[in-house]
Amino acid sequence: MQDLPSDRDALQALLDFHVEAGVDLALDETPHNRFAEPKPEPAQAKAPAPKASPAPAPPRALPKAAASAPEEVAGMAREQARHAQSLEELEAILAGFDGCALKFSAKNLAFADGNPEGRVMLVGEAPGADEDRIGKPFMGRSGQLLDRMLATIGLDRSQVYVANIVPWRPPGNRTPTPQEIAICKPFIARQIELASPEFLLCLGGPAAQNLLGIKDGILRTRGRWFTYKTEDGREVKALPTLHPAYLLRQPLQKRLGWRDFQALRRALDGRE
Ligand code: URA
Repeated sequence: MQDLPSDRDALQALLDFHVEAGVDLALDETPHNRFAEPKPEPAQAKAPAPKASPAPAPPRALPKAAASAPEEVAGMAREQARHAQSLEELEAILAGFDGCALKFSAKNLAFADGNPEGRVMLVGEAPGADEDRIGKPFMGRSGQLLDRMLATIGLDRSQVYVANIVPWRPPGNRTPTPQEIAICKPFIARQIELASPEFLLCLGGPAAQNLLGIKDGILRTRGRWFTYKTEDGREVKALPTLHPAYLLRQPLQKRLGWRDFQALRRALDGRE
């Protein structure tokens, strides 16, 4: 392991550097290959080993499901998601699903917020630190901006339903991997099907690409209406737009986000 500085200020500076870089979650003392099967116990030692300093804790093994091939786990996810007959059932199934390794580093499942009866469903990427702590999507700064944007078209969370394509926080807020998204996708697909919104707002590229099957980046697709098809054959009008976290970093682009929200308002009023 890397030599650590011994004085307090240098240690604090090192810690701050990591937190700023997004490494704000301590999983273990040493790196582990979490896809590897646990090693078999060594054969019984003949003589008792001399007393040494306490051995480092063994790596925490992931449940078998999370260590299986992603396609196999995605198949299990599809099977389980299909069984949910209500959003409450789906949340309970997801809470008991061990196939996505993110579950084991996250504090909470951030399943949904808002009103599932609303005409609009918004889907983002994945929870961040605030959402992980609270257990609901869009609770932090992005969520506050989202609320302000909704307010400009006369909506609030009591009128819309909010979720993410991945319901557990990726460590350090990294982008979820394609495998993690593929594993979680059957759940968000079923969530959309059960909520059955009239309009779907895809917040950011990953939500738009994964839900609508489009390859182009969000700056090319935002503001254009697409059709989202549920597995049971219903069609939902879907609008990709810029993610509020991106708008916080690029405030000049807020005008594009504002245009998209105006388009949603017109659609809600039957003017689009
Ligand atoms: N970003 C997302 O995509 N979702 C959240 O819930 C929070 C931030």
